[in-house]
Amino acid sequence: MAIPDTSEICRGVEDAIAWEAAREAPPADFPPLPEIPGGRYTRQDFHDLEVEHVWRKSWIYACREEEVREPGSYRAFNKLGPPIIVVRGKDDVVRAFYNTCRHRGAPVVRDEAGKVGRLRCQYHSWSYALDGTLVSVPDERDFACLNKADRGLLPVRCETWGGMVFINEDQSAMPLADYLGGLPHELACVGMDGLRVVETVSYEIDCNWKAAVDAFLEVYHINTIHPTNAGVMLHSKAAAMGLMPHGHSRMATRKNMNQGINFVEFEGAPDIATMPDFYRNNNVAYNIFPNLVTPVEPTGFPILLFWPRGLRKTEMVAVYVAPDWGDGERPAFWDRFLPIFDAVLQEDMMNLAPIQQSLDSGAFTGMMINYQERRIYWFHEELDRRIGADRMPPELRVAPVLGDHVEPLPLALAAE
Ligand code: FES
Ligand SMILES: [Fe+2]
Repeated sequence: MAIPDTSEICRGVEDAIAWEAAREAPPADFPPLPEIPGGRYTRQDFHDLEVEHVWRKSWIYACREEEVREPGSYRAFNKLGPPIIVVRGKDDVVRAFYNTCRHRGAPVVRDEAGKVGRLRCQYHSWSYALDGTLVSVPDERDFACLNKADRGLLPVRCETWGGMVFINEDQSAMPLADYLGGLPHELACVGMDGLRVVETVSYEIDCNWKAAVDAFLEVYHINTIHPTNAGVMLHSKAAAMGLMPHGHSRMATRKNMNQGINFVEFEGAPDIATMPDFYRNNNVAYNIFPNLVTPVEPTGFPILLFWPRGLRKTEMVAVYVAPDWGDGERPAFWDRFLPIFDAVLQEDMMNLAPIQQSLDSGAFTGMMINYQERRIYWFHEELDRRIGADRMPPELRVAPVLGDHVEPLPLALAAE
């Protein structure tokens, strides 16, 4: 498939970067951002609202398609509590189901991943085809009223984009493609579906998941806490933020080239040739609401995922993906890239437990967000839109003020 021409987007963002680098104040029409209430990070009632209205109703990254490569390959997904499996059918379609037998609720798979011909329950051996249909029941004669057609595995919505499998527990959710809006168009140049996983690393952080996400939505902090890596690589004042519908956003930050630690300049760096120079000259990071953050690079890059493990614990997972290197060892580039990126993440994590303690102290009542941190505010606005302001305690709401500052869709998409 031809890669869409996104030169207009790239030019527009480059212009915005230049404007940001030169400005002396926020744009005149930019509204002051109210404080983000600290209770959003500490209160169980708010967390419960997020679970019910955000986590259980959003498109959520579950795995890479290549992790369920063959018919019968499956992966368990337990990050959010409800037990779910993603499985590739004989027809090559990737589907998701609750890992819940329709007899008495036992799991139909116990392992994290594997390959099966059928999904056979681990209790009394009810068996389901890979499309979820109930196909065999031992001692079926003892179930007087059983209609097998009615007792297939309960489906979870499952759609893919860019080699990533997304699931959604909300059967009435909009299609993933609509949810992602302009992102597939903009990121077609990355060829995400042709990438492969280099390494997956998991970190546990003692903070609310939003404190962790917040840390990846701005570059205001990089000169302070990343003075030897990101602070050197990037020009924090030359950063353009793009707010997109459904809470997504982009942050493009100009690179300080020739500093010796830019990934694209490393000897033997992999190269996604289809990516415009825009991505070589700038660090361009996206947030797919709610919990996926990815700074795309022509060399390969991490997909960062933030999972709430209760109110005050977060699991951050970095899934590094790269252009396929064929058979054999991964390119030596990764032995240099991974430790640098890990160091950046370690630095990012250092402040998060102390921030949580500050919030829990009750002395610190809220976050003051500046103009260049506005992606954070946009992310919180979207949380409220999903939850519904009327369901929330008034003192925990954030006022919606950024709606007029959303990027218009690219012309090619707006016309569709
Ligand atoms: S619970 Fe699955 S067969 Fe009984
Ligand atoms: Fe950082």
